[in-house]
Parts: sequence; structure tokens; C-alpha cells
Amino acid sequence: MCQALSAPSPPCTALLSFLFFLLTVVGPVSVSAWRPWPQKNNMNTTDYAFGDSKKYEGSSEFVKLRYHMGPVLTTNITVHTIWYGKWERNQKKIIREFINSISAANSAHPSVAGWWRTVQLYTDQTGANISKSVRLGEEKNDRFYSHGKSLTRLSIQTVIKSAITAKTRPLPINPRSGLYLLLTADDVYVQDFCTSVCGFHYFTFPSLVGYTLPYAWVGNSAKFCPGQCAYPFAVPAYIPNRKPFKSPNGDVGVDGMISVIGHEMAELATNPLANAWYAGQDPSFPVEIADLCEGIYGTGGGGSYTGQVLDARDGATYNMNGIRRRFLVQWVWSHVLNYCTGPNALDH
Ligand SMILES: *[C@@H]1O[C@H](CO)[C@@H](O)[C@H](O)[C@H]1NC(C)=O
Ligand SMILES: *[C@@H]1O[C@H](CO)[C@@H](O)[C@H](O)[C@H]1NC(C)=O
Ligand SMILES: *[C@@H]1O[C@H](CO)[C@@H](O)[C@H](O)[C@H]1NC(C)=O
Repeated sequence: MCQALSAPSPPCTALLSFLFFLLTVVGPVSVSAWRPWPQKNNMNTTDYAFGDSKKYEGSSEFVKLRYHMGPVLTTNITVHTIWYGKWERNQKKIIREFINSISAANSAHPSVAGWWRTVQLYTDQTGANISKSVRLGEEKNDRFYSHGKSLTRLSIQTVIKSAITAKTRPLPINPRSGLYLLLTADDVYVQDFCTSVCGFHYFTFPSLVGYTLPYAWVGNSAKFCPGQCAYPFAVPAYIPNRKPFKSPNGDVGVDGMISVIGHEMAELATNPLANAWYAGQDPSFPVEIADLCEGIYGTGGGGSYTGQVLDARDGATYNMNGIRRRFLVQWVWSHVLNYCTGPNALDH
């Protein structure tokens, strides 16, 4: 459901270890990540007892990912973007090119399209796969912060409502194959941003917005918490002696967002209405295909180790190629292999 903070060990390592313990032993999972409803019990991530003793890349015996009969995004996916606040032209370009790379046929291996192929393995109850085709749709600029610089869980939906009901160039209403992506600039705070999440996905309520539209929000953490949400391009103070990796597109905040956008899009495609693919017993606290692989970018990843990634000639770190650019994107769970995988996996 959410991209929790991407930096490892407290909170991520702790969270994941505890999560697997809960999944197997206790059943319903409660993670201290954002949900669109109040938390039942707030897990204290400093209070865990499991350390990073378990590596998740291949921990298939612990994961019970199940299909709960709901729809998934099987028709061509169109991403409608809302740029909330001040965005630079080059920042937008990096994000657009990542989204365009998902269906790009001829990027060099390992590619973003190769990463999406794991998402395509998921089907609905008719056997239809997640769409291979993901393309950019319309865009809406909300340059003047129509709902202020501090958004709540609910005001996010009103931002989307404003975008689809705008007098000039409203975003199209496309509940069947639209994916609404709200991206907030680095001076916008969103409820629970930095303290427990870097992004999340859900769907809008007809009572509020008029339609049920699957959406994702991802924030630019550059000013507020790059060590939490743009890791490993920035490193939080609680991890001493670790140098940040050089980001592949020269923008720590935006390069950090890319992996969170990938995380949310993969989950949104496989669980758009929170009733399709997730692990755990409780639909209020789903653990989805990217939650299971948070912090894993390559073979051997887990705990505080990203796994084997690639070095560009300029020293930047990446794990997949897109159109004209390179990106570092976390892996996703394959229910066919029963472990996390990505295009740069060494067993490919
Ligand atoms: C979490 O645990 C720490 C240490 O046990 C404690 O100081 C802190 O108050 C706890 N936080 C919450 C939210 O329970
Ligand atoms: C879906 O996308 C593919 C490839 O981009 C295109 O060939 C096809 O016509 C599209 N289908 C629909 C129904 O739009
Ligand atoms: C569709 O999903 C099935 C089941 O996971 C898989 O075997 C098949 O390869 C997928 N097809 C595509 C085009 O990804």
C-alpha cells in the first residue's frame, strides 16, 4: 500500500523483519505506514527484536501473497499526472521519461520494461494479465498550491477533484484504465510524509470526488527528509559512516521519487481497489507486491544492503535503463518465482 521510508534499519529493516514475523505467526499485519484510515495499533519500530537476521530476497516460505478476486489494471494504463507546487522543467522530464520507459521496447538490458514484466505476471480472475502498455496521459499543473502547502489524507482527494473538474483543460475521467499520479513539490508537506511514508496509493471516494479513481501520491523529499525517502542517494544520520550513492539523473529528490513512483505503480496495478493481490489477512493492512521488496534493488539485497547494482561511468548508481536515462528502482515480488526480482537479477 505504502512506500514506507526507504532507508534501511530502523525503520525498514525492523519493519520488514517484524512484518514477516507477523505474517507467519500472528496473521494480520500492522505496519507503521500510512493507511487512509486510523491505525489499529501503532507498531513501535524501535521496539523490534528481530534485527536483520533474515534476508527477504528469497524468503518464499514466509510470504503468503494471495489474490482476493478484485480487479487489476488489465487495460492499457494511462498515467494522468498532477504537478502540485513548483516543478522545474528538468524534474518533470526525468519523471516523464521514467513512466515512458515502462513500455519502451528497446531500452538496453537491464531495462525498466524488464522490471515491469514481473508486474505483468499478475492476473485477474479471468486470467487477464496486467497491461504491458503504460503511457503518459494528460497533465495538470497546480502551480499555486490550490489546497495549501500541507495536505491531509482527504485533501489529497480534493486536489484530484480540482484537477478533473478544472474549468480549463481538466484531466480526463478514466476510472477503468486511468492512473492518477499526484506529485508534490519539495516544499509541500503531506500527512505522515517523512515520519512514516514516502508515498501511497489508494482510490478516490465517489462521495468526495464523484468517481472511484485509483491514484498514487509521491512527494519530493529533497528538503524535508531525503535520508528517509531518497535513500540511498541521501543517508539518514542514524546510519553512520555511509556515503550516499550518486544519483543517476543529478537530482537527489527526484531520483529518490522514481523508486517510490515505481513502487506505487506496481502496487496500484495489482491492487487498485485494495481487493486483489496482497499478503496478510486484513485488507485494511495489506502488504503488497512492492512492500515485500522494499530496499531491494539487486541480487543479495535485504537488510541495509541494496543488493548488486550497477555503476555508471560517472559514478552514479542505477539498476535499470530507460529511454535516454538510468534509474534505480526497487524490485517487486514475483508470485511465480516466490521471491523479489528485477531485470538486473544475476540469475537471469
Ligand atoms: C517507542 O519505543 C521507545 C523505546 O522503547 C519509546 O521511548 C517510545 O516512546 C515509543 N514510541 C511510541 C510511539 O510508542
Ligand atoms: C493498447 O496499447 C497498444 C500498444 O501501445 C496499442 O497497440 C493498442 O491499440 C492499445 N489498445 C487500446 C484498446 O487502446
Ligand atoms: C500472464 O500471467 C501468467 C501467470 O502469471 C504468466 O504465466 C504469463 O507469462 C503472463 N503473460 C504475460 C504476457 O506476461
